[in-house]
Amino acid sequence: MSKSVVLIAEELSPATVDALGPDFEIRHCNGADRTELLTAIADVDAILIRSATKVDAEALAAARKLKVVARAGVGLDNVDVAAATKAGVMVVNAPTSNIVTAAELACGLLISVARNIAPANTALKQGEWKRNKYTGVELSEKTLGVVGLGRIGVLVAQRMSAFGMKIVAYDPYIQAARAAQMGVKLVSLEELLEVSDFITVHLPKTPETIGLIGDEALHKVKPSVRIVNAARGGIVDEEALASALREGRVAGAGLDVYAKEPCTDSPLFAFDNVVATPHLGASTDEAQEKAGIAVARSVRLALAGELVPDA
Ligand code: NAD
Ligand code: MLT
Repeated sequence: MSKSVVLIAEELSPATVDALGPDFEIRHCNGADRTELLTAIADVDAILIRSATKVDAEALAAARKLKVVARAGVGLDNVDVAAATKAGVMVVNAPTSNIVTAAELACGLLISVARNIAPANTALKQGEWKRNKYTGVELSEKTLGVVGLGRIGVLVAQRMSAFGMKIVAYDPYIQAARAAQMGVKLVSLEELLEVSDFITVHLPKTPETIGLIGDEALHKVKPSVRIVNAARGGIVDEEALASALREGRVAGAGLDVYAKEPCTDSPLFAFDNVVATPHLGASTDEAQEKAGIAVARSVRLALAGELVPDA
C-alpha cells in the first residue's frame, strides 16, 4: 500500500518530521509561491503550513486528495476554514504552542519602544553617542491597554504587571470577574483608547477587527501613547498609524505584523520611533518545536481516521 503524502509548505522545526515518523511520504514546497503551491497540493493527503501559505478556496479546489490542513501556530486567517469544512477537509492548529513566545515578543517591542532601544542601537553602531535624543519613558505606574484578553493578551498583562503597569483591557467576550481575578480592569474600547499610555493588540484577524485601531480610534488616544501590534497586520490600520505618528498623535509603535506580508517597504519604516520585526512573534526554537510536534500528532491521528483532540 502506498504511503499517505504530507506536504510541508513552509519551514518548520525538524521535530515536525521526526514526530510524523516513517509512515508518510514527506514532500516540500514553497507555499508562498502560488503556482508551486497549486501544483504541489494536487495529490497530497495533508498540508502543513505557517502563516505565509494561503489555503483558500482555490487551493482547496486544486487539492484532489486533501484530508487535513495543519497550521503550525495559532492564526487561521490564512485558511478558508468554511471552504475546507465544505470540502470535507479537517483543519487543525496548535493554539497554545507559541503563546508564551508571542507574548514575550510583544513585551519586548513594548520595552523597546519605551526606551528607544532599536534606534539608539542603530545610531551607536553608526558612531553616534546620543544620550539625550534617546531618552525614553518609564513603564512603572503607566496604564497598558490590552485589546483582546485571550491567551496571549493575558500572558502580556501578567508580564507587564510585573513592571508595575496598571492593566486595562477591552474584550467583549470575557467576563469582568475573570479579568478582575487577574488584576485587569475590563473597559470599553473608547475608555481604553483614552486612558492608555501603551496599547497592545492581541485579536484574531476577522472582518470585525480589521482596522479596529484605525483613524477614528487614533484620534482618541493620548499623544504620548505607544502602540504594539504583534497579532495580525491590518488590525492597526497602517495608513492611519503613519498619519498619527506624522502628526504627533501617537508617540511610537512596535510592529511585528503587516497588512501584506512579506513587507519590506512601508512608510512606517521611515519613523525612528517605530520598531519593526518581520513577523517573528512565534519564532523561537521552543515554540517552533512545540507547534511542529503538535500538528504532526494531529496529522497522524487524522490520517489514521482517529479522533483529533484539541491541542
Ligand atoms: P485568543 O483566541 O486566545 O484570544 C483572542 C481574544 O480576542 C479572545 O479573548 C477574544 O474574545 C478576543 N476578541 C475576538 N474578537 C474581538 C473583538 N472584535 N474585539 C475585542 N476582542 C475580541 O488568541 P491568541 O492566541 O491570544 O492570539 C491573538 C492573536 O495573536 C491572533 O491574531 C494570532 O494569530 C496572533 N499571533 C501572532 C503571532 C505572531 O507571530 N506575531 C504568534 C501567535 C499568535
Ligand atoms: C501564529 O499565528 O501562530 C503566528 O502568526 C506564527 C506563525 O506564523 O507561525
